[in-house]
Amino acid sequence: ILKRKKRPKLNILLHRDSKEKIPRLAWKCGHNIGKILIANRGEIACRVMRTAKKMGVKSVAVYSEADRNSMHVAMADEAYCIGPAPSQQSYLAMEKIMQVAKVSAAQAIHPGYGFLSENTEFAELCKQEGIIFIGPPSSAIRDMGIKSTSKAIMSAAGVPVVEGYHGEDQSDECLKEHAKRIGYPVMIKAVRGGGGKGMRIAHSEKEFLDQLESARREAKKSFNDDAVLIEKFVDNPRHVEVQVFGDQHGNAVYLFERDCSVQRRHQKIIEEAPGPGINPEVRRRLGEAAVKAAKAVNYVGAGTVEFIMDSKHNFYFMEMNTRLQVEHPVTEMITGTDLVEWQLRVAAGEKIPLMQEDIVLQGHAFEARIYAEDPNNNFMPGAGPLLHLTTPPPDSFTRIETGVRQGDEVSVHYDPMIAKLVVWAEDRQAALRKLRYSLHQYNIVGLSTNIDFLLSLSGHPQFEAGNVHTNFIPQHHDELFPTKKATPHEVMCQAALGLILKEKMLTDAFRDQSDDKFSPFASSTGRRINICYTRKLSLLDGENSKLKKLYTTNTNFWFIIQDETFLISGEIFNEGDSVYLRSSVNGTVCKSKLVILDNTIYLFFPWYYFMLLAHMSLFLFLSVGMQSGAVAPMTGTVEKVFVKAGDKVKIGDPLMVMIAMKMEHTIRAPKAGVIKKVNFQEGAQANRHAPLVEFVDEEAESK
Ligand SMILES: *[C@@H]1O[C@H](CO)[C@@H](O)[C@H](O)[C@H]1NC(C)=O
Repeated sequence: ILKRKKRPKLNILLHRDSKEKIPRLAWKCGHNIGKILIANRGEIACRVMRTAKKMGVKSVAVYSEADRNSMHVAMADEAYCIGPAPSQQSYLAMEKIMQVAKVSAAQAIHPGYGFLSENTEFAELCKQEGIIFIGPPSSAIRDMGIKSTSKAIMSAAGVPVVEGYHGEDQSDECLKEHAKRIGYPVMIKAVRGGGGKGMRIAHSEKEFLDQLESARREAKKSFNDDAVLIEKFVDNPRHVEVQVFGDQHGNAVYLFERDCSVQRRHQKIIEEAPGPGINPEVRRRLGEAAVKAAKAVNYVGAGTVEFIMDSKHNFYFMEMNTRLQVEHPVTEMITGTDLVEWQLRVAAGEKIPLMQEDIVLQGHAFEARIYAEDPNNNFMPGAGPLLHLTTPPPDSFTRIETGVRQGDEVSVHYDPMIAKLVVWAEDRQAALRKLRYSLHQYNIVGLSTNIDFLLSLSGHPQFEAGNVHTNFIPQHHDELFPTKKATPHEVMCQAALGLILKEKMLTDAFRDQSDDKFSPFASSTGRRINICYTRKLSLLDGENSKLKKLYTTNTNFWFIIQDETFLISGEIFNEGDSVYLRSSVNGTVCKSKLVILDNTIYLFFPWYYFMLLAHMSLFLFLSVGMQSGAVAPMTGTVEKVFVKAGDKVKIGDPLMVMIAMKMEHTIRAPKAGVIKKVNFQEGAQANRHAPLVEFVDEEAESK
């Protein structure tokens, strides 16, 4: 039996430094887990593997065909393909996963969150097959999975529960009778519900039957079970949840609360720990209620007890999540713990590493979930390639939990979460400042994300004041979704300068590479010394199209935008993996990160960014054509084809015209040669980077 020495209160700074935490390689008792299978993907799979590596435990990944090249596969010691992209045929295919566990000789399975993490059948299957399920016993999953059962258990254990009806009788009359007893407004919820599905509010008796019908319909569709329960509707409620941990020796502790009130479409986007404005007395009562809940179901491992809290800080049990939560890192940050390590130790039969009095709350942590979604379009989930990705530099107080890298694809098949940004500081205000600063450093190009929205959310005065509740986003809608402002002329100038300098850099590189004396670019790149020339550039920022004229001498540029003149100079340079632009616009110097992809120019400043579209076929030709032959710069339609098989072309000759994003792009020959094949005819749709024209192989030709 593990003998626990009472530990001194740990200094969080030391505690946080991984070098200070030397893992115990030998297990103190129980099973020896040397290899685990992670039945999940993305950031959580990577997160679990990081701890496994730290502890010297081998990790086995499973993946779907869509995830073959993903980060969690690359990180694992072994990886097995378990089927096609749809989860039903891969990440939810219990038998296949079990087979991999056996083949790879994994002793335990970590289910992560989602997928099989709260699946009773899977937990039972593991037990039958003699493989440790890193989670609670299947009985606890079952009891907590059905809302009416879980509430009955909690009431009996003396945990405060929202007044409601959780009975078997599902007749309209009975439900209506109970709604009246509880008092309007009431919430109608699917018994098997989750994620806001099958949930309706009835404000009065008049509305009740309509809302009931609606909730039942959705419940039937989502869970194939239309049983509902009725609850008192709490106004301006907060979602406060407590992290608990149990072991196989009957111990249970709490690791304080998280506030996850700020939600969109009933899903959390910013979480924090501890809950703002919650005093130590309420915190202790919350924690003790949660431990009572865990003990009531003989809980083992990491679990979360969710409470609804009213404006007077009264709280009521909602449900228990029998898994590690997405937002567990904020708890780790304020307690200096590694909950995945705890999970592995407890699964191996050890006692909980710390006793309640040794768990000390320090500082404040935030987590922001970065999603591929469009906040301006009702947070519609998105998918697509991460063409450019830079993150704030991770340090002891900034964690980036992600399962993707630059170049990866956010797949339509799975959750559109790109990353979790987790920050810690000594108090809430400092942590919030850090969060906003780090969000500004999170730059993603290629798909729309909620980063701007997270910034306006975390910068809202009511959020800063800690006045959070589940209705926060609808209530502050207008301030959170400000109308887009037109791009200032100064920024337009910088974008144009960045474009020209990048173009010049590529042209120079191209000349150095090419032995062809002919160059079609000499007249338009500013290489001709001391010659003043004029060029027109068209830059678009969303709706506004702005035509600008550009005059240039050797190093200075004059831009004319709508009668205003600007004198500009500057340079581009590399710093780390990124390209920066330093520019002077009428004497004002500033620095921004410059990303140019196809015909879109992104300028990232410390506190904002701009995106502009340029009509620039020359640049397209250079950046795309130079690398890979004549390929489509972006997805679009072929408008005109100028060449056919057998034609001889010179470098720079027009090959075809494409229409993409409402603009024409001339595709030019990247080299001199003979056309072998034209792959797309007029009117055809070509995907981004599809080869448009093939050249006769030069070596074959010379033979
Ligand atoms: C920028 O400077 C130039 C030259 O000094 C001047 O002619 C122009 O009016 C200035 N533009 C603005 C917008 O202030």
